[in-house]
Amino acid sequence: MDKIQINIKDVLNTVSMTDIEALKSEADNGLAKLVDGTGLGSDFLGWVKLPTSTPEILLDDINNTAKHLRDNCDAVVCIGIGGSYLGAKAVVEALGNAMGETKGPRILFAGQNIGEDYLYELQEYLKGKRFGIIVISKSGTTTEPAIAFRLLKEQLEKQVGRDEAGKLIVAITDARKGALRTLSTTEGYKTYVIEDNVGGRFSVLTPVGLLPIAVAGYDIKALIKGACAMEDDTLSGKDNSALLYAMTRNALYRSGKKIEILVNYNPKLHFFGEWWKQLYGESEGKDHKGIFPAAVDNSTDLHSMGQWIQDGERTIFETVISVARQQHQVLIPKDDANLDGLNYLAGKRVDEVNKMAELGTRLAHVDGGVPNLHITLPALEEQYLGQLIYFFEAACGISGYILGVNPFNQPGVEDYKRNMFALLEKPGYETETAAIKNRL
Ligand code: PA5
Repeated sequence: MDKIQINIKDVLNTVSMTDIEALKSEADNGLAKLVDGTGLGSDFLGWVKLPTSTPEILLDDINNTAKHLRDNCDAVVCIGIGGSYLGAKAVVEALGNAMGETKGPRILFAGQNIGEDYLYELQEYLKGKRFGIIVISKSGTTTEPAIAFRLLKEQLEKQVGRDEAGKLIVAITDARKGALRTLSTTEGYKTYVIEDNVGGRFSVLTPVGLLPIAVAGYDIKALIKGACAMEDDTLSGKDNSALLYAMTRNALYRSGKKIEILVNYNPKLHFFGEWWKQLYGESEGKDHKGIFPAAVDNSTDLHSMGQWIQDGERTIFETVISVARQQHQVLIPKDDANLDGLNYLAGKRVDEVNKMAELGTRLAHVDGGVPNLHITLPALEEQYLGQLIYFFEAACGISGYILGVNPFNQPGVEDYKRNMFALLEKPGYETETAAIKNRL
């Protein structure tokens, strides 16, 4: 199997190999903590050996459920927020076609926002359609997906009847606790469990990500196989990419580079950037520390953020994901009139032009004082995405430990919820409601 590759030579204008190597023992310690569970947040390390411990029987069961939904639905709505949606969305978009079509039914997402128009228009779209629901919430109590599920469950039951609806709803949640578990047991839904020791943003390789990806028609066994290869090689020390990435980004951070921009040159990777932002933002942004994760889609963003990146405040570095092999070939045609002056490109593949845009940008940004890390993905295929996911997860854990935070909690996310519940006068929040009203 080809492997993803990382190249750090274009950061050496900013930090030296000595600066990076100085973090080697911290990185080794970080990896050891992930393996032996002696670091902060060690209750949430279920993802570390998850790929190699995923039973074949679970993958077969997920594939069977996916087939049932594919055979009976024109659209499947995945309801979830944060780690309960971004991984699935990232992989489905990376493997789907440019029009957002998959190999299976249309995959829609809800519960990741509370836009009233979004929900209204989604319900209108689903009117009269055969649709299914995958509702995902580890806690089983998150407000945004709970609202979307209440609405869509009611709609589905009205459209096909309660019994039939029950066969088209799958819930992925905690084994025992939470409102979604109670509801699923009462209604008799097919369920999958998110284990206690796997946090939301590390859950894409559990049923949370695997079921939507399988419904979309993609090969979850190949995805897991790729992740297994990266797990084996990372934990055995055969592949030091995750360590190198963690060390390099921390060396850059210590040198004053506070913002990391994940760059792609393939629009199908847009949501991979969103998944990565959550993984690193929620894992590292603590104790008033942490690299701010941003993402751009090039060439699109070269014409919006390009100026800032080239010439704005020099606190950024970039990590570029380059896809080596495209699935299709498009050649630029010759035009006898050549009024657009493009004949110098005639006969070339579009990807050749894209790769030159990428190289030209990298050289310009490095010259402009923006260190560049470079990750090459052999192709947008399941096995390589599996590798990339595990690579980023492992590097994130190691990087968080180098930074000195608990990479596996997210205490800051609770603050907005407390205010929202107080403002909405949720039962049990009477004191907070009185206090917040006093502030207004
Ligand atoms: O990474 C995380 O833990 C969070 O982003 C959660 O995934 C998100 O808050 C959704 O939580 P839940 O799955 O409990 O609804």
